[in-house]
Amino acid sequence: MIVVIDFGSQYNQLIARRVREQNVYCQIEPPDIDIERLKFLHPEGIILSGGPASIYEKSSPRATPEIFSLGVPVLGICYGMQFMVEALGGTVSRAEKREYGFARLRIQKEEALLSGIGDDTQCWMSHGDSITALPEGFEVTAVTENTPMAAAADPVRGFYGLQFHPEVEHTPKGKQMLQNFLFSVCGCRGDWTMKAFAEEAIAEIRNSVGDKQVILGLSGGVDSSVTAMLIHQAIGDQLTCIFVDNGLLRHNEGVRLKNIFTQHLKMNIDYVDAADQFINALQGVTDPEEKRKIIGKIFMDVFEAEAQKIENAEFLAQGTLYPDIIESQSAFGGPTAIIKSHHNVGGLPEKMKLKLIEPLKFLFKDEVRELGKTLGLPEELVWRQPFPGPGLAIRVIGEITAKRLSVLRLADAILLEEIRESGYYRKLWQSFAVLLPIKSVGVMGDKRTYENILAIRAVTSVDAMTADWAKLPHDLLGKISNRIINEVQGVNRVVYDISSKPPSTIEWE
Ligand code: XMP
Repeated sequence: MIVVIDFGSQYNQLIARRVREQNVYCQIEPPDIDIERLKFLHPEGIILSGGPASIYEKSSPRATPEIFSLGVPVLGICYGMQFMVEALGGTVSRAEKREYGFARLRIQKEEALLSGIGDDTQCWMSHGDSITALPEGFEVTAVTENTPMAAAADPVRGFYGLQFHPEVEHTPKGKQMLQNFLFSVCGCRGDWTMKAFAEEAIAEIRNSVGDKQVILGLSGGVDSSVTAMLIHQAIGDQLTCIFVDNGLLRHNEGVRLKNIFTQHLKMNIDYVDAADQFINALQGVTDPEEKRKIIGKIFMDVFEAEAQKIENAEFLAQGTLYPDIIESQSAFGGPTAIIKSHHNVGGLPEKMKLKLIEPLKFLFKDEVRELGKTLGLPEELVWRQPFPGPGLAIRVIGEITAKRLSVLRLADAILLEEIRESGYYRKLWQSFAVLLPIKSVGVMGDKRTYENILAIRAVTSVDAMTADWAKLPHDLLGKISNRIINEVQGVNRVVYDISSKPPSTIEWE
């Protein structure tokens, strides 16, 4: 495995991605990582990331210089290189010219890291400070017009520095450089696969759980489903998944999920039909925040009551993913702003004195999907679009009634059917229908109608932090609109939402 020391660069996750794409496991750790922990991790190599700080600022993040005595190769990128140079006795000064953007990299010496790169390539620079003197044992291996020490190496000790970013696409030979570091310099084998990950995770879960019981809040989303699969394969019936049907799910979804998990996957599912409780409590409520509060509170009550019934329960499993962890531990990043499904059970572990198990906490979303496939999770679940915890309550704008929920469900089912049929389902981050609290005039047959307006929302996104409205073909939109107006009683107008996030959000609430 490789450890990336996180000095706060916006590209840190990308470094981890690039390493894992080579089938080498990689973990991001904060700069103040304890040296004993680092030794315990037994990395084959260490990458020091870039970062926004200047090494001369007092508050700039630093790692212990002991990392250079571990006998493990180190690759410093941008700020990481400057930190390495300074720690080993070289000097860094403010550059006369700040270098940002594309630069032509000329190779001076083809050593292990720059092997196979050729004489000359493009690289992506983003730095204010520059190295003015290298530590003993280092020599310059590449230059750019404004950066005479754009790359340097001390091959004897296995220390390499790049002043530019090999992890970004703008450095076309960056992948080769990282491969050189992983395989030629560090001697990694490249045999980390999801199968290997699953085997290790299963052994670890067995080991930590022993003969105790584990509870999991199953939503049917990818993260909680894959977590359930993994834990189920580790400890079988010692896992109970609590599935709270809040009556705010999509058409047929509760029953369908229940069947997949109980009959097909043979899991121990505690299916709680709490629809009435939720719908009654939501009567007359129109404010979206109020809806969320009510739903959150009832969910906690129902979940807790069910969990109390499980004897010997000592663990609560959650599908926390790596980006949450990285962002909350990052040297400069604050806690993540993304609302994730596991937040729906937030607060429960402390309240119920349960220990947390988060087996996906080192994985990215697409790796979770890959793991799901490896574990045999049905495709339908592996590729499921995200669905908010408060469900259709935030898609029926205004008051929620059984009638309005049923209008939305039907329209939404048609929309999804067409989106799936057209092959767009996987290309979209989300696609759904929203029922508006406005009526408008229409004409059907010879009769005037005064019915609901339904909005269609379809977006592309990588992480829901930003999103683009999807440029769906007009024909497809036309077909969806026709079908909804013809087949769903109570809708006489369909509109398409063409706003992106920001400034809009994905959900309408
Ligand atoms: P917004 O509307 O803020 O949504 O752009 C961003 C993403 O988060 C989802 N979302 C939620 N997911 N519980 C969840 O599990 C929630 O309470 C919740 N609220 C919004 C939303 O569907 C989108 O993918």
